[in-house]
Amino acid sequence: MGNITEEIKRRRTFAIISHPDAGKTTLTEKFLLYGGAINLAGSVKGKATARHAVSDWMEIEKERGISVTSSVLQFEYGGYCINILDTPGHQDFSEDTYRTLMAADSAVMVIDASKGVEAQTRKLFKVCVMRKIPIFTFINKLDRDANDTFDLLDDIEKELGIATCPLNWPIGSGKEFKGIYDREKKCVISYSDTEKGTREGTATEIPIGDEAGLRTLIGDGAADKLLEEVELLDGASAAFDLGLVQAGELTPVCFGSALTNFGVEIFLQHFLDMATTPLPRKADIGLVDPVENAFSAFVFKIQANMNKAHRDRIAFLRICSGKFDAQMEVRHVQGGKVMRLSQPQQIMADERKILSEAYAGDIIGVFDPGIFSIGDTVCSPGKKLQYEGIPTFAPEHFARVRQLDTMKRKQFVKGIEQIAQEGAIQIFQEFNTGLEEIIVGVVGVLQFDVLKYRLENEYNVEIRLENLPYEHIRWIENKEEVDITKIVGTSDMKKVKDMKGNPLLLFVNPWSVGMTLDRNKGLVLTEFGRE
Ligand code: G4P
Repeated sequence: MGNITEEIKRRRTFAIISHPDAGKTTLTEKFLLYGGAINLAGSVKGKATARHAVSDWMEIEKERGISVTSSVLQFEYGGYCINILDTPGHQDFSEDTYRTLMAADSAVMVIDASKGVEAQTRKLFKVCVMRKIPIFTFINKLDRDANDTFDLLDDIEKELGIATCPLNWPIGSGKEFKGIYDREKKCVISYSDTEKGTREGTATEIPIGDEAGLRTLIGDGAADKLLEEVELLDGASAAFDLGLVQAGELTPVCFGSALTNFGVEIFLQHFLDMATTPLPRKADIGLVDPVENAFSAFVFKIQANMNKAHRDRIAFLRICSGKFDAQMEVRHVQGGKVMRLSQPQQIMADERKILSEAYAGDIIGVFDPGIFSIGDTVCSPGKKLQYEGIPTFAPEHFARVRQLDTMKRKQFVKGIEQIAQEGAIQIFQEFNTGLEEIIVGVVGVLQFDVLKYRLENEYNVEIRLENLPYEHIRWIENKEEVDITKIVGTSDMKKVKDMKGNPLLLFVNPWSVGMTLDRNKGLVLTEFGRE
């Protein structure tokens, strides 16, 4: 068991989140560079393709196979084995992005120093808060003109409701960017971008107490400002507390420039010092310790292969305990079957590697003959446990689906149900009528195009989508106690049900949600669906 324990303890699994263009890809590339996983920065993914217009989406998927929406990067650094879960890099993201966070033990949040907190970060952040996972912030692009540092921190505190603790502090920005001050070591590390894309530049490091040296290194103006800011900061900022960081209540903040490779390795080292080993996960039998238990995992994502010739699907599993070995038999709890997982693999950005073993904390992709659903548990045959389901996240765009050729009803229903099972879309029906009327809900509008394209190409079914005005969906938390037919809402409220028959309410605006709650005492609504 010794070896297994050591392997698990050295794992760190995190998701990287940011608003598009904040520098997530660039930062990831630099991390990999430190791990020696790639030889040259810039080769992680075909960056140019990441920002294509919606209509090009399928071309991108075809070109890059499975990697666009799913990549897990694993690298070694300083004795650690690090798994980075990349969240989809499209402008328009999907529910998958949220789900990826369910498989991580911590999150790295990248913020553009000239923009501060942006809408997408806010949404992803809510999910981190719900899971209480530690969040590490990297404020990027200091080599460009940045917002005031205190304002940036204030912004995070106000927008996201989490306390910040800067581990270092930037000295100027843009053309005036001189480096960072390390608060723990109490020294200044000067900026250099001479070794762009390779290792971190050869920086000069001097203690802040050496005022003469500091003035020579960064100039009088910058030195005065820094000394003043440091005094302010030491007096005003929250004290560092690892317990609060690990509880997701305090975010350590580092500054740097991913593009010029400054501050990245420092951030990585701080992250590794503070990030947790794979966390115990909740199951029906209680918390499952990753080390004490035999193999167990849950499915957090299902991805259809875009290659029409082999309509296979890959299920992504997060290993929660023990060791996985390709030869072993496992039990798929929901399906009630003992089986071997076929073609276990690590899904890298541009390649798939067949795996022979993996440990708690790791993510594996396995061939799915159509038996897995999101949230399913897989474990050693002798174990009896079932992990907590993954919540359903609220779609924000809705459309009515009209099938153009009614003769193809069967293919249509099969197609739309399969696509919904993968979790890219959610489907609903009118509360009181049958299947004829299907309403589809998505987190990002790009998914509408994906649905249309896939139904046409994979199922040979044409559809028309009619947009609906709803933007807010609520699950009924106490559905057992409420008579759905008696709920009186606003005139623009719509009652629907999901494929399992759970009742839901759709609203055009938050005001209607409030009115409905007022008019129906005792009704409890939630933004996350229970599985
Ligand atoms: P994303 O994955 O979060 O969407 O961001 P990505 O890394 O793709 O970066 C978005 C753009 O910002 C890229 O420029 C990238 O080079 C640039 N960038 C990332 N980090 C920094 C930084 O620290 N400083 C500066 N100045 N720029 C940075 P692009 O021109 O859109 O793409 P490319 O042609 O350079 O690849």
